[in-house]
Amino acid sequence: MNEVPHFHYERVSSTNDIAKELLALHERLFVSADYQFKGRGRKGRTWEGESYKNIYLSYAVNELKYKSIDNKALYQVIGSLAVKKILSKIIPQDKIKLKYPNDVYVANDTGEYRKISGILSEHGYLGNSCTETILGIGINVNQDKFDNALSNKATSLKLLGYSCDLDKLLEDLKENILHLLERDEKEVFDEWKEEIALVGKKVALIETGAEFVIERVNPDGSLLARNEHNERNINNGDSISYEL
Ligand code: BTN
Repeated sequence: MNEVPHFHYERVSSTNDIAKELLALHERLFVSADYQFKGRGRKGRTWEGESYKNIYLSYAVNELKYKSIDNKALYQVIGSLAVKKILSKIIPQDKIKLKYPNDVYVANDTGEYRKISGILSEHGYLGNSCTETILGIGINVNQDKFDNALSNKATSLKLLGYSCDLDKLLEDLKENILHLLERDEKEVFDEWKEEIALVGKKVALIETGAEFVIERVNPDGSLLARNEHNERNINNGDSISYEL
């Protein structure tokens, strides 16, 4: 496997933005940072975290120059599986759960699940063809305080009682991403489907409260949900709520 260049910065707006810029010079690359002052989350939200405490990593690929994966929905799948794999070496497996579409949650001492990692994959298009992909991953590692809005939603390895070497964790994450990118696409997708364990699960639409049961996970990562009145296609994890 060719070495993928890795650029580390002390302070950036967002590692996804820097990775996108650097794609002008590289077929693919990693960008990480000690701090992001404009970190982005999904759905226009911000992703905030302290300096030197957490992982902020982006993997970027120029899809025109490098033969990448065919199913673009797999990038976020790969992000969440890579995070689960590295955390499983530290935390008992059964305490880690993937939440649709690609959040990673961990159970604390009282059995409540809190978000430890989020994934944001962004794509550039020319017409219908995807020209570039940026997969951004944030993991809360050594941060031990979250502001009020997040304090009962987020957690970190430190808050869960684990002390970890950030650099080692970052290397392990990169290795897992590259390994997953090499694997058979269907096999990776099936592994994620099993991890996310949504088929047969009851979910509620946040907008209306209507309850549905997930019947199928489609190859593009969207969900087919059904109740006695309706069938719905769900492609936005933020529009449903469900018990992990
Ligand atoms: C989410 O859960 O809403 C997604 C969060 C993604 C955060 C990561 S941190 C590295 C990369 N750079 C960003 O600005 N966002 C992603």
